Amino acid sequence: MPPWESAQKRRKKEIMSDRLLDKVVLITGAARGQGAAEARLFAENGARLVISDVQEDALGELGDELRGKGHEVAECVLDVASPAAWSTAVQRAETQYGRLDVLVNNAGILTMAGVEDTDLDTWDRIVAVNQTGTWLGMKAAVPALRRAQHFAWIPVYHRVFDEVGNFLRPQRSGEGL
Ligand SMILES: NC(=O)c1ccc[n+]([C@@H]2O[C@H](COP(=O)([O-])OP(=O)(O)OC[C@H]3O[C@@H](n4cnc5c(N)ncnc54)[C@H](O)[C@@H]3O)[C@@H](O)[C@H]2O)c1
Repeated sequence: MPPWESAQKRRKKEIMSDRLLDKVVLITGAARGQGAAEARLFAENGARLVISDVQEDALGELGDELRGKGHEVAECVLDVASPAAWSTAVQRAETQYGRLDVLVNNAGILTMAGVEDTDLDTWDRIVAVNQTGTWLGMKAAVPALRRAQHFAWIPVYHRVFDEVGNFLRPQRSGEGL
């Protein structure tokens, strides 16, 4: 690795640390996968977290793990498709830490089934979580983010539109669809 590259990486790390230090961050879908990885990364860089998910047990385990390392973490069960649950989660951040600086709209669901094998309930749930859930999150969090003044929200690319392609993709090219 050339010397300038390692210096650049070090600088990036410093900038990231500065930017997250003491920030109050609400992460959805944090019980596993990318959401859990984001929670660990943000906590290591000094952020104070509200981690949320529909999986209460896994969420509690992650909370215990992060508190065990000295990080400030609160858990909140949140189904992103529920407007009432969003209000509770945003209030939790403001009650616990006095503000909300960052929303990571990470929660999402995915099915690999094609259109013929997917029923309307499944489709409606994907739209409710990936699309409406993301919008509900912005709607619930933006007033609190504005109160915090220096804020950000982080959309995680959702597969709502990709799903359409997935649903329409021929299951086997030999079928000539
Ligand atoms: N992993 C990838 O390659 C990839 C690629 C593109 C986009 N994404 C998107 O990134 C996000 C995270 O992906 P991942 O691979 O970590 O997924 P994952 O399935 O491992 O984790 C998703 C988390 O979201 C939670 N969740 C599901 N429905 C929820 C709901 N209604 N309310 C709150 N939480 C809910 C789940 O319990 C789970 O903990 C998803 O939105 C996904 O669509 C992932």
